[in-house]
Amino acid sequence: MNDTKNKLSGPDFVKGVALSKVVDGAMLLGHAHGDPVLLARRGDELFAIGAICTHYGGPLADGLLVDDTVRCPWHHACFSLRTGGVLRAPALDPVSCWRVEQRDGSVYVREKLARTKHQHSPVTAGAPKAVVILGGGAAGNAAAETLRREGYSGPITMLSADASVPCDRPNLSKGFLAGAASAESNPLRPPAFYLEHSIDLKLGAPVASVDTKSRHVQLVDGSRHAYDALLLATGAEPVRLDVPGAALRHVHYLRTLAERASRRDAPSRHHSHFHR
Ligand SMILES: Cc1cc2nc3c(=O)[nH]c(=O)nc-3n(C[C@H](O)[C@H](O)[C@H](O)COP(=O)(O)OP(=O)(O)OC[C@H]3O[C@@H](n4cnc5c(N)ncnc54)[C@H](O)[C@@H]3O)c2cc1C
Ligand code: FES
Repeated sequence: MNDTKNKLSGPDFVKGVALSKVVDGAMLLGHAHGDPVLLARRGDELFAIGAICTHYGGPLADGLLVDDTVRCPWHHACFSLRTGGVLRAPALDPVSCWRVEQRDGSVYVREKLARTKHQHSPVTAGAPKAVVILGGGAAGNAAAETLRREGYSGPITMLSADASVPCDRPNLSKGFLAGAASAESNPLRPPAFYLEHSIDLKLGAPVASVDTKSRHVQLVDGSRHAYDALLLATGAEPVRLDVPGAALRHVHYLRTLAERASRRDAPSRHHSHFHR
Protein backbone atom coordinates (compact mmCIF):
# COMPACT_ATOMS: atom_id res chain seq x y z
CA MET A 1 0.00 0.00 0.00
CA ASN A 2 2.93 2.28 0.65
CA ASP A 3 4.53 3.33 -2.61
CA THR A 4 6.09 6.65 -1.59
CA LYS A 5 9.77 7.33 -2.29
CA ASN A 6 11.65 7.71 0.95
CA LYS A 7 14.15 10.45 1.76
CA LEU A 8 17.23 9.45 3.73
CA SER A 9 18.20 11.16 6.97
CA GLY A 10 20.36 10.51 10.01
CA PRO A 11 23.64 8.59 10.13
CA ASP A 12 24.82 6.13 7.52
CA PHE A 13 24.80 2.90 9.50
CA VAL A 14 27.03 1.20 6.95
CA LYS A 15 29.85 3.54 8.05
CA GLY A 16 28.99 2.77 11.67
CA VAL A 17 27.68 4.68 14.64
CA ALA A 18 29.01 4.78 18.20
CA LEU A 19 27.26 2.25 20.45
CA SER A 20 26.88 5.00 23.08
CA LYS A 21 24.51 6.80 20.67
CA VAL A 22 22.15 3.82 20.53
CA VAL A 23 20.45 4.13 23.89
CA ASP A 24 18.98 1.01 25.49
CA GLY A 25 15.21 0.93 24.84
CA ALA A 26 15.37 3.64 22.18
CA MET A 27 15.34 3.81 18.38
CA LEU A 28 17.63 5.68 16.04
CA LEU A 29 16.70 6.68 12.49
CA GLY A 30 19.40 6.46 9.84
CA HIS A 31 20.01 4.69 6.57
CA ALA A 32 21.95 1.83 5.03
CA HIS A 33 22.53 0.79 1.43
CA GLY A 34 20.11 3.51 0.25
CA ASP A 35 17.21 2.50 2.51
CA PRO A 36 15.83 4.27 5.60
CA VAL A 37 16.71 2.07 8.57
CA LEU A 38 15.60 1.95 12.16
CA LEU A 39 18.26 0.85 14.63
CA ALA A 40 16.90 -0.30 17.96
CA ARG A 41 18.53 -1.56 21.12
CA ARG A 42 17.18 -3.86 23.78
CA GLY A 43 19.84 -4.47 26.43
CA ASP A 44 22.74 -6.11 24.61
CA GLU A 45 20.69 -6.87 21.50
CA LEU A 46 20.67 -4.60 18.47
CA PHE A 47 18.19 -4.72 15.59
CA ALA A 48 17.97 -3.02 12.21
CA ILE A 49 14.71 -3.00 10.25
CA GLY A 50 13.08 -0.82 7.58
CA ALA A 51 12.04 2.53 9.02
CA ILE A 52 8.91 3.03 6.92
CA CYS A 53 5.65 1.24 7.65
CA THR A 54 4.43 -0.87 4.74
CA HIS A 55 0.83 0.24 5.32
CA TYR A 56 0.81 3.96 4.47
CA GLY A 57 4.41 4.91 5.11
CA GLY A 58 4.22 5.81 8.81
CA PRO A 59 7.60 6.74 10.38
CA LEU A 60 8.38 3.76 12.63
CA ALA A 61 11.10 5.73 14.46
CA ASP A 62 8.29 7.85 15.95
CA GLY A 63 6.46 4.72 17.05
CA LEU A 64 6.58 2.68 20.20
CA LEU A 65 9.20 0.09 21.10
CA VAL A 66 7.58 -2.78 23.01
CA ASP A 67 9.85 -5.73 23.87
CA ASP A 68 11.19 -6.89 20.51
CA THR A 69 8.50 -5.18 18.45
CA VAL A 70 7.79 -1.71 17.11
CA ARG A 71 4.31 -0.19 16.73
CA CYS A 72 3.61 2.26 13.92
CA PRO A 73 2.48 5.67 15.24
CA TRP A 74 -0.20 6.09 12.56
CA HIS A 75 -2.52 3.07 12.70
CA HIS A 76 -0.60 0.81 15.10
CA ALA A 77 0.62 -1.97 12.85
CA CYS A 78 3.22 -4.03 14.69
CA PHE A 79 6.52 -5.36 13.30
CA SER A 80 9.07 -7.78 14.73
CA LEU A 81 12.49 -6.24 15.33
CA ARG A 82 14.01 -9.70 14.91
CA THR A 83 12.66 -10.45 11.44
CA GLY A 84 10.82 -7.36 10.17
CA GLY A 85 7.75 -9.59 10.00
CA VAL A 86 4.35 -7.99 10.35
CA LEU A 87 2.67 -9.13 13.55
CA ARG A 88 -0.48 -7.01 13.52
CA ALA A 89 -2.76 -5.36 11.00
CA PRO A 90 -3.40 -3.06 9.27
CA ALA A 91 -0.01 -3.56 7.55
CA LEU A 92 0.08 -6.71 5.45
CA ASP A 93 3.70 -6.84 4.34
CA PRO A 94 6.93 -7.11 6.36
CA VAL A 95 9.65 -4.47 6.47
CA SER A 96 13.23 -5.40 5.56
CA CYS A 97 15.67 -6.63 8.15
CA TRP A 98 19.48 -6.25 8.22
CA ARG A 99 22.28 -7.99 10.06
CA VAL A 100 23.87 -5.82 12.75
CA GLU A 101 27.47 -6.09 13.88
CA GLN A 102 29.16 -4.57 16.92
CA ARG A 103 32.87 -3.92 16.72
CA ASP A 104 35.29 -1.69 18.70
CA GLY A 105 32.50 0.29 20.35
CA SER A 106 30.64 0.92 17.08
CA VAL A 107 27.54 -0.56 15.48
CA TYR A 108 27.40 -1.41 11.77
CA VAL A 109 24.45 -2.40 9.60
CA ARG A 110 25.58 -5.11 7.23
CA GLU A 111 23.71 -7.06 4.55
CA LYS A 112 19.96 -7.36 4.21
CA LEU A 113 18.65 -10.67 5.54
CA ALA A 114 16.58 -13.01 3.42
CA ARG A 115 12.93 -13.15 4.38
CA THR A 116 12.05 -16.29 6.27
CA LYS A 117 9.33 -18.22 4.50
CA HIS A 118 6.92 -19.98 6.77
CA GLN A 119 6.80 -23.68 6.19
CA HIS A 120 3.33 -25.01 5.55
CA SER A 121 3.05 -27.81 8.02
CA PRO A 122 0.44 -30.55 7.80
CA VAL A 123 -2.64 -29.92 9.93
CA THR A 124 -1.51 -30.96 13.39
CA ALA A 125 -3.58 -32.47 16.18
CA GLY A 126 -5.90 -29.88 17.66
CA ALA A 127 -5.79 -27.57 14.61
CA PRO A 128 -9.13 -27.19 12.78
CA LYS A 129 -9.56 -29.49 9.80
CA ALA A 130 -11.24 -26.74 7.74
CA VAL A 131 -11.67 -23.02 8.37
CA VAL A 132 -14.52 -20.96 6.96
CA ILE A 133 -14.24 -17.18 7.19
CA LEU A 134 -17.53 -15.38 6.83
CA GLY A 135 -16.67 -11.94 5.43
CA GLY A 136 -14.33 -10.58 2.77
CA GLY A 137 -13.27 -7.33 4.44
CA ALA A 138 -9.97 -6.36 6.04
CA ALA A 139 -10.62 -8.55 9.09
CA GLY A 140 -11.43 -11.68 7.08
CA ASN A 141 -8.46 -11.06 4.80
CA ALA A 142 -6.07 -10.56 7.73
CA ALA A 143 -7.31 -13.75 9.36
CA ALA A 144 -6.79 -15.81 6.21
CA GLU A 145 -3.31 -14.36 5.62
CA THR A 146 -2.28 -14.87 9.23
CA LEU A 147 -3.40 -18.49 9.21
CA ARG A 148 -1.23 -19.16 6.16
CA ARG A 149 1.69 -17.07 7.45
CA GLU A 150 1.70 -19.04 10.68
CA GLY A 151 1.74 -22.33 8.84
CA TYR A 152 -1.85 -23.51 8.81
CA SER A 153 -2.17 -25.79 5.79
CA GLY A 154 -5.80 -26.94 5.99
CA PRO A 155 -8.53 -25.64 3.69
CA ILE A 156 -9.54 -21.98 4.14
CA THR A 157 -12.74 -20.73 2.53
CA MET A 158 -13.66 -17.04 2.57
CA LEU A 159 -17.28 -16.26 1.81
CA SER A 160 -18.00 -12.66 0.89
CA ALA A 161 -21.24 -11.00 -0.14
CA ASP A 162 -19.11 -8.33 -1.90
CA ALA A 163 -18.61 -8.45 -5.66
CA SER A 164 -14.93 -7.49 -5.40
CA VAL A 165 -11.90 -8.90 -3.59
CA PRO A 166 -11.12 -7.53 -0.10
CA CYS A 167 -10.29 -3.86 -0.54
CA ASP A 168 -8.86 -0.92 1.37
CA ARG A 169 -12.27 0.39 2.40
CA PRO A 170 -11.07 3.55 4.20
CA ASN A 171 -9.28 4.66 1.05
CA LEU A 172 -12.54 4.55 -0.95
CA SER A 173 -13.50 7.90 0.58
CA LYS A 174 -9.98 9.40 0.46
CA GLY A 175 -7.24 9.00 -2.16
CA PHE A 176 -9.44 6.81 -4.33
CA LEU A 177 -12.43 9.16 -4.18
CA ALA A 178 -10.17 12.11 -4.97
CA GLY A 179 -8.82 10.24 -8.00
CA ALA A 180 -5.27 10.20 -6.57
CA ALA A 181 -5.25 6.40 -6.21
CA SER A 182 -6.01 3.97 -9.01
CA ALA A 183 -8.66 1.25 -8.89
CA GLU A 184 -5.84 -1.31 -9.12
CA SER A 185 -4.28 -0.01 -5.90
CA ASN A 186 -7.46 -0.45 -3.89
CA PRO A 187 -7.64 -4.24 -3.45
CA LEU A 188 -5.67 -5.41 -0.41
CA ARG A 189 -4.27 -8.23 -2.54
CA PRO A 190 -4.54 -9.10 -6.23
CA PRO A 191 -6.88 -12.03 -7.04
CA ALA A 192 -3.84 -14.26 -7.77
CA PHE A 193 -2.73 -13.94 -4.14
CA TYR A 194 -5.67 -16.03 -2.95
CA LEU A 195 -4.92 -18.74 -5.50
CA GLU A 196 -1.22 -18.79 -4.59
CA HIS A 197 -2.06 -19.20 -0.91
CA SER A 198 -4.83 -21.73 -1.48
CA ILE A 199 -7.45 -19.43 0.00
CA ASP A 200 -10.74 -20.28 -1.62
CA LEU A 201 -12.27 -16.80 -1.94
CA LYS A 202 -15.89 -16.88 -3.02
CA LEU A 203 -17.30 -13.52 -4.06
CA GLY A 204 -20.98 -12.66 -4.41
CA ALA A 205 -21.60 -15.43 -1.88
CA PRO A 206 -24.03 -14.14 0.76
CA VAL A 207 -24.55 -16.56 3.63
CA ALA A 208 -28.14 -17.09 4.76
CA SER A 209 -27.62 -19.20 7.88
CA VAL A 210 -25.14 -20.96 10.11
CA ASP A 211 -25.93 -24.37 11.56
CA THR A 212 -23.62 -24.69 14.54
CA LYS A 213 -24.78 -28.23 15.34
CA SER A 214 -23.85 -29.79 12.01
CA ARG A 215 -21.10 -27.16 11.45
CA HIS A 216 -22.30 -25.94 8.09
CA VAL A 217 -22.98 -22.52 6.60
CA GLN A 218 -25.70 -22.25 4.00
CA LEU A 219 -25.50 -19.69 1.23
CA VAL A 220 -28.46 -17.79 -0.17
CA ASP A 221 -28.12 -19.91 -3.34
CA GLY A 222 -28.66 -23.06 -1.23
CA SER A 223 -25.09 -24.41 -1.36
CA ARG A 224 -23.49 -25.52 1.89
CA HIS A 225 -19.95 -25.38 3.30
CA ALA A 226 -18.72 -27.54 6.15
CA TYR A 227 -16.40 -26.02 8.71
CA ASP A 228 -14.46 -27.12 11.71
CA ALA A 229 -13.72 -23.53 12.79
CA LEU A 230 -15.84 -20.57 11.71
CA LEU A 231 -14.79 -16.93 11.92
CA LEU A 232 -17.53 -14.31 11.75
CA ALA A 233 -15.99 -11.18 10.20
CA THR A 234 -19.11 -9.63 8.73
CA GLY A 235 -18.35 -5.99 9.58
CA ALA A 236 -21.35 -3.69 9.55
CA GLU A 237 -23.75 -1.96 7.22
CA PRO A 238 -23.74 1.83 6.83
CA VAL A 239 -26.21 3.68 9.03
CA ARG A 240 -28.94 4.93 6.68
CA LEU A 241 -29.94 8.58 6.94
CA ASP A 242 -33.36 9.10 8.38
CA VAL A 243 -33.88 12.78 7.57
CA PRO A 244 -35.91 14.65 4.96
CA GLY A 245 -34.00 14.58 1.66
CA ALA A 246 -32.21 11.31 2.41
CA ALA A 247 -33.80 9.72 -0.66
CA LEU A 248 -32.66 12.46 -3.06
CA ARG A 249 -30.76 11.31 -6.14
CA HIS A 250 -27.48 12.94 -5.18
CA VAL A 251 -27.25 11.30 -1.74
CA HIS A 252 -25.07 8.21 -2.07
CA TYR A 253 -23.79 5.49 0.23
CA LEU A 254 -20.19 4.46 -0.30
CA ARG A 255 -19.04 1.12 1.04
CA THR A 256 -17.72 -1.10 -1.71
CA LEU A 257 -15.30 -0.77 -4.59
CA ALA A 258 -18.19 -1.39 -6.99
CA GLU A 259 -20.20 1.48 -5.46
CA ARG A 260 -17.18 3.76 -5.74
CA ALA A 261 -16.65 2.80 -9.39
CA SER A 262 -20.27 3.59 -10.22
CA ARG A 263 -19.99 6.96 -8.45
CA ARG A 264 -16.62 7.92 -9.89
CA ASP A 265 -17.96 10.11 -12.65
CA ALA A 266 -21.23 11.13 -11.02
CA PRO A 267 -21.45 14.95 -11.04
CA SER A 268 -22.63 15.18 -7.45
CA ARG A 269 -21.39 15.52 -3.90
CA HIS A 270 -20.42 12.28 -2.19
CA HIS A 271 -21.35 11.28 1.31
CA SER A 272 -19.61 8.44 3.04
CA HIS A 273 -21.09 6.93 6.14
CA PHE A 274 -18.97 5.30 8.76
CA HIS A 275 -20.07 2.08 10.26
CA ARG A 276 -21.51 2.09 13.73
C1 LIG B 1 -15.98 4.83 2.80
C2 LIG B 1 -15.41 4.35 4.08
C3 LIG B 1 -14.35 5.05 4.69
C4 LIG B 1 -13.79 4.60 5.90
N1 LIG B 1 -12.73 5.29 6.45
C5 LIG B 1 -12.17 4.87 7.62
C6 LIG B 1 -11.08 5.54 8.22
O1 LIG B 1 -10.60 6.53 7.70
N2 LIG B 1 -10.56 5.05 9.37
C7 LIG B 1 -11.07 3.93 9.96
O2 LIG B 1 -10.55 3.50 11.01
N3 LIG B 1 -12.10 3.24 9.42
C8 LIG B 1 -12.67 3.69 8.27
N4 LIG B 1 -13.73 3.01 7.72
C9 LIG B 1 -14.21 1.81 8.42
C10 LIG B 1 -13.40 0.59 8.04
O3 LIG B 1 -13.35 0.47 6.65
C11 LIG B 1 -14.08 -0.63 8.65
O4 LIG B 1 -14.00 -0.51 10.07
C12 LIG B 1 -13.40 -1.91 8.20
O5 LIG B 1 -13.55 -2.04 6.81
C13 LIG B 1 -14.04 -3.09 8.89
O6 LIG B 1 -13.48 -4.26 8.34
P1 LIG B 1 -14.22 -5.64 8.51
O7 LIG B 1 -13.44 -6.64 7.74
O8 LIG B 1 -14.46 -5.88 9.96
O9 LIG B 1 -15.67 -5.44 7.89
P2 LIG B 1 -16.15 -5.01 6.43
O10 LIG B 1 -15.08 -4.29 5.69
O11 LIG B 1 -17.47 -4.35 6.62
O12 LIG B 1 -16.33 -6.40 5.69
C14 LIG B 1 -17.40 -7.27 6.03
C15 LIG B 1 -17.44 -8.36 5.01
O13 LIG B 1 -18.45 -9.29 5.39
C16 LIG B 1 -19.25 -9.60 4.26
N5 LIG B 1 -20.56 -10.03 4.74
C17 LIG B 1 -21.40 -9.43 5.59
N6 LIG B 1 -22.50 -10.19 5.78
C18 LIG B 1 -22.34 -11.30 5.02
C19 LIG B 1 -23.12 -12.47 4.76
N7 LIG B 1 -24.29 -12.67 5.34
N8 LIG B 1 -22.62 -13.40 3.89
C20 LIG B 1 -21.41 -13.24 3.30
N9 LIG B 1 -20.64 -12.15 3.52
C21 LIG B 1 -21.10 -11.20 4.35
C22 LIG B 1 -19.28 -8.31 3.46
O14 LIG B 1 -19.67 -8.59 2.11
C23 LIG B 1 -17.82 -7.89 3.60
O15 LIG B 1 -17.03 -8.60 2.66
C24 LIG B 1 -14.31 3.44 6.52
C25 LIG B 1 -15.37 2.74 5.93
C26 LIG B 1 -15.92 3.18 4.72
C27 LIG B 1 -17.04 2.42 4.09
S1 FES C 1 0.92 3.72 8.22
FE1 FES C 1 1.62 2.32 9.70
S2 FES C 1 -0.15 1.37 10.39
FE2 FES C 1 -0.87 2.72 8.88
